[in-house]
Amino acid sequence: MKIDGIPYRTIWPCDDRRGVHIIDQTRLPHRFAVVRLDRLEDAARAIRDMWVRGAPLIGATAAYGVALAMAADPGDAALEQASRVLAATRPTAVNLHWALERMAARLAPLRPSARAEAAWREAAAICDQDVEINRAIGGHGLPLIRAIWQGRQATVNLLTHCNAGWLATVDWGTALAPIYMAHDAGVPVHVWVDETRPRNQGANLTAWELQRHGVPHTVVVDNVGGHLMQHGLVDMVIVGTDRTTACGDVCNKIGTYLKALAARDNGVPFYVALPGPTVDWQIEDGLRDIPIEQRDGAEVSRVSGRTATGEVVAVAVTPEGSPVANYAFDVTPARLVTGLITERGVCPASRAGLRGLYPEHGA
Ligand code: MRU
Repeated sequence: MKIDGIPYRTIWPCDDRRGVHIIDQTRLPHRFAVVRLDRLEDAARAIRDMWVRGAPLIGATAAYGVALAMAADPGDAALEQASRVLAATRPTAVNLHWALERMAARLAPLRPSARAEAAWREAAAICDQDVEINRAIGGHGLPLIRAIWQGRQATVNLLTHCNAGWLATVDWGTALAPIYMAHDAGVPVHVWVDETRPRNQGANLTAWELQRHGVPHTVVVDNVGGHLMQHGLVDMVIVGTDRTTACGDVCNKIGTYLKALAARDNGVPFYVALPGPTVDWQIEDGLRDIPIEQRDGAEVSRVSGRTATGEVVAVAVTPEGSPVANYAFDVTPARLVTGLITERGVCPASRAGLRGLYPEHGA
C-alpha cells in the first residue's frame, strides 16, 4: 500500500542484507517510524512488544528472525534456539508457529554453510506468498461487497474490529483487502472502525490505513456495534483471525465474539477473512484448545494519546490499585460465522467447508 505516494510493505530487507526494516506500529498514528532489526533478539522484541503485530506479519517477522539468527550462527543449536525464542514471543497467532516450522523444515536438512542464504530467501518467499494470498482474499471478498451494493444501490456499510489491514500482514491485509478492492473498483463503501481497546488497533491503525487510502470510515467505541446493527447501519461485518480451528471456530481480538452475537441477532452477515496458514489443522474446538494471551494490565489501566502540544503520553484511566484483567483474544464459534473468505475462495465455517478448499489437509 502507499503512504504519501510511496509503496510500502510492513517488512522489507535492508539493502546490505544484514537486517530488515519494519514499521514501528506502536508509534502510529502519530508518527511513522521505520526501525531496523539486526539480530534475532530484535525480531523477538519487535513481536513481543507489538512493534509488529497481526497474525501474518508476526509469522513473516519470525521468519526473518530465523534468517538473522542464521547469519550470526548457522549451526543446529542456533537454529533450535532461534525457533524456541521466537515461538515464546506471543501465544495465540498460529502463523508464528507455521512460519517457524516452515523455516526449520527448509533449513535443518542443509549444511550450516548454506543456511544463511537459504533462510534469507525463504523468509522473502514467505513475505511474497503472504502478499499474493491477501490479494486473492481481496479478490474473493470483493463480490460479496459488490452484491450488497448491486442489491441496494447505496453505500455499503461494513464493520471491522481490531486491525486486519495491510499493517497486520505484509501487504493488503485480510479483512481489509476486500474493502480496499471494493473501494478501488468504485463500489461505495463506508467502514465502522471499532476502536478495539485496550491497545486501540482500530482507532490507531485501521483508521490511519483507511484514511491514507481515502476509504470513508468512522471510528466508534467498541460497544456501539450492536446499536448500529439494530438500526440497520451495518450491512456486513468482516474481521480477521489469529487462529481458526479445523472446524471453523475463529479466534480473534477480544470483543469479536460480541460482534458476532450482535450480527446473528440482527441478521447481519459476519465474515472472517483468513490466509490458509492461519488455520490450525491440529485442533477442532477453539474454546478448549486455543491459548488465549493475557497481557500486561497496564494496557487496560492506561491509555496513550497525543496532547494538544504534540507530545504522546500515557495516562491512567482506573483508580490507582484497582485490579485489571487483560484477555487479548476470544473465540467465536463456527456457528456464528456466515463464511470464511480465504485465498482459495469463500467457504462455510465448518470442517467440510475448510477441507473442501484445502483437501491436502483432508485425512
Ligand atoms: O494483538 P494483535 O494486534 O496482534 O491482534 C491482531 C488481530 O486480532 C487481528 O484481527 C488478526 O491478527 C487478524 S490479522 C490479519
